[in-house]
Amino acid sequence: MLEAAAARFGFKLDWHSFNWSCETYLASGAMMPSDGLNHLRSFDAIYLGAVGRPDVPDHISLWGLLIPIRRTFRQYVNLRPVRLLDGIETPLKNRKPADIDFTIVRENNEGEYSNIGGRIYEGTSEETVVQQTVFTRTGVDRVLRFAFNLARSRRKHLTSATKSNGIIHTMPFWDERFRILSAEYPDIRTDQYHIDILTAHFVRHPDWFDIVVGSNLFGDILSDLGPAVAGSIGMAPSANLNPEKEYPSMFEPVHGSAPDISGKGIANPIGQIWSGALMLRHLGAFAAADAVEDAIAKTLAESAVRTPDIGGSSSTNELGEAIAQRVRRPT
Ligand code: IPM
Ligand code: MN
Repeated sequence: MLEAAAARFGFKLDWHSFNWSCETYLASGAMMPSDGLNHLRSFDAIYLGAVGRPDVPDHISLWGLLIPIRRTFRQYVNLRPVRLLDGIETPLKNRKPADIDFTIVRENNEGEYSNIGGRIYEGTSEETVVQQTVFTRTGVDRVLRFAFNLARSRRKHLTSATKSNGIIHTMPFWDERFRILSAEYPDIRTDQYHIDILTAHFVRHPDWFDIVVGSNLFGDILSDLGPAVAGSIGMAPSANLNPEKEYPSMFEPVHGSAPDISGKGIANPIGQIWSGALMLRHLGAFAAADAVEDAIAKTLAESAVRTPDIGGSSSTNELGEAIAQRVRRPT
């Protein structure tokens, strides 16, 4: 898809593939070589496929590859657009594409995803486990600022996901920084909801949202729920951004490796393809990015080619090929 876009718009993508995966782990004992991150450092962008395999523990496959990449390269924004596309059915009653069009800005480097903690008295009845959530002012402010700025380029409405009624140290701090920074963005309408009722509002009132900003865990949960109300997790893209471009950013679908359908050739390719469009935009290939997104939208709106998750019987390749043709020859 990306090659098709590059050919049409007259630029070249210089790909280097790294076979870092659960298979690599099973063969070598590591998801990537010990100097793997150094290999990645000099690239402009990283295009990642979903990682995970039932016979490899998740904490090994994810903390051995994805999470170190997000952190080492300060990809502190995880940007996850949610859109109901024409021709896709939402499980919500009477909702049209205009009702579901928002973007989740997930904090991607700290928060609840922390490796600070431990276990004592293991195996005894006093077994005790502690895991620390880490919120830094730098970390909170930079993701909030990104969200405020993004809201400026959209409908100027920013919602914050919180839980300051139950989590009494980190979440009031998050709210405080949100309030303080909002004074610098008087043109942005703000609101905030506790994460529990916010999930209900995603289902009942998806039209209330423009940009939604949340901590690492809350953003993670919202970014599966959002695409589910927009019709399929299989279509959701994401961009792990280092906005300053000091390090490479990484582009990957929101969905996991779906071992239940592995090898059947029926996975929805759109999450991966759309993530590629986000990557093209990050690289400055704006027209190519728009063309790929356009091709996705038109294929779904004007043809019956669909994978089973969105109500069709086409294969991954058939849907991919249908989109690629529109990238090559716009209609
Ligand atoms: C995601 C995924 C990851 C996350 C997992 C695989 C560690 O669910 O990108 O949303 O929680 O960040
Ligand atoms: Mn997730």
